[in-house]
Amino acid sequence: MADTQSRAGARFATAEIMAWLERVHSAHDATLEAVYLSPEKTGLPAIQLGHAEAGFLEWFVRFMRARVAVEVGTLAGYSAVRIARALAADGHLYSLEADPAHAKVARTNLKQAGLSDKVTVIDGFAATTLPSVESKGPFDLVFLDADKGGYEHYGRWARAHLRPGGVLIADNVYLFGRLLDSDDEAASVRRFHEETAQHFDTACIPTPDGLLVGVRR
Ligand SMILES: C[S@@+](CC[C@H](N)C(=O)[O-])C[C@H]1O[C@@H](n2cnc3c(N)ncnc32)[C@H](O)[C@@H]1O
Repeated sequence: MADTQSRAGARFATAEIMAWLERVHSAHDATLEAVYLSPEKTGLPAIQLGHAEAGFLEWFVRFMRARVAVEVGTLAGYSAVRIARALAADGHLYSLEADPAHAKVARTNLKQAGLSDKVTVIDGFAATTLPSVESKGPFDLVFLDADKGGYEHYGRWARAHLRPGGVLIADNVYLFGRLLDSDDEAASVRRFHEETAQHFDTACIPTPDGLLVGVRR
């Protein structure tokens, strides 16, 4: 019965259920709550990962025992804190951010979280700055959460710079519901999906806007 209902697109995750689950499985401590709320408080767009997706990301990074990671799209550092906390003790995250105002808030938050030594925030557009971290690879994890039109390029970069068994995770892979539209951005994100599926073992997790997880073959 439940299977039939979920195939028919029924939604069982009420806001109350999600809030209860978040409290039980991935509760924010005071630091995490402050970083989570900081975009609104500092005038940045509140487009950080959802609590549950971020909980999954942190759990996954810990589960796979990742050590060296790259993130494209820092914003105020919420997902960076989640990733960095889960990395091995001697691990490092390189987080790439195009907007200097976002990078500045992120650096402050990472300092307050005691993670300045574990996370390097790199200013600039990722297409330009990704080559600057290549010498730190091969990487265990690449996390994409920035301009969706860039995913095709970032996916190819990840393919070249992840170790075999390394993991690519990308948020918003339903493209806010526009994935099958006829514009160039949607076509590019579809190519990102197709190329990733060719070179990675992939699963698309049905979060509100889709989270793609791929293990490099
Ligand atoms: C959705 S937010 C990232 C949220 C963050 N991962 C989190 O969950 O806390 C996207 C960020 O990507 C940045 N961005 C957009 N295009 C970019 C690019 N080409 N290179 C680097 N950063 C970019 C934006 O300025 C914004 O801060």
